[in-house]
Amino acid sequence: MRMGAQTMTAITPQDVKNLDIEDLTYLGSGSWTSAFKFDEETAILRSNCKVKAAISQGLFPKSPLFPEIEKVFYDEEEAQTYYIMDFLEIGKYGEEDEFREELNKESKKVWDHLVKFNKDFKPNYYSVKDKMTRLEYWIKAFTEMLSKTLNKLMISALRTCDTEKTGNVALDMPMHNVGHKNGQLVLFDCFANFGDSCI
Ligand SMILES: Nc1ncnc2c1ncn2[C@@H]1O[C@H](COP(=O)(O)OP(=O)(O)OP(=O)(O)O)[C@@H](O)[C@H]1O
Ligand SMILES: [Mg+2]
Repeated sequence: MRMGAQTMTAITPQDVKNLDIEDLTYLGSGSWTSAFKFDEETAILRSNCKVKAAISQGLFPKSPLFPEIEKVFYDEEEAQTYYIMDFLEIGKYGEEDEFREELNKESKKVWDHLVKFNKDFKPNYYSVKDKMTRLEYWIKAFTEMLSKTLNKLMISALRTCDTEKTGNVALDMPMHNVGHKNGQLVLFDCFANFGDSCI
């Protein structure tokens, strides 16, 4: 049983197992996750993303900026985990201004702050990559640039993503990784764990 932002949704593992997920509206996919629309309030994820697993275990800091993700079941045959979360309005490339207009007042402030920060800092990691890990780089950047509250949240989220303690984690905030729910900004996929790959 899960309390959604507006309604109470009760989806059991059996409900999801009984579904032919391919019959649902496909929302999109990335490197680790495919998303499907269950109803107006709820999305179903099929994923092997470590960050989604960490969020579902309640390890992210408590903030409306981060999604609530609930594990439904693990499918051993597919080696994929099914989750449910709020259905979000997702950002689109080239529609930054339209996306901003849909946000509530508080989210607009956070969004403006993060967009500027993301533009200023994203390309700079490569110039220092022999001296520090991605984790160290982003912590330094957050600390120098973000407000105290946001800094604390972002550092805590990033550390949580570093599930194998490689330090190879980063903010990854393109439009397709942000969304909103009734105007509340949600950084639903903005922290990447690159593990031991050397990209
Ligand atoms: N809760 C949701 N509501 C609506 N659409 C969603 C939701 N979750 C995911 N999506 C859609 O599915 C896409 C893939 O989801 P997600 O970004 O979580 O996957 P990923 O594999 O982690 O992506 P990446 O390649 O960025 O790591 C999103 O870009 C978005 O379009
Ligand atoms: Mg994504």
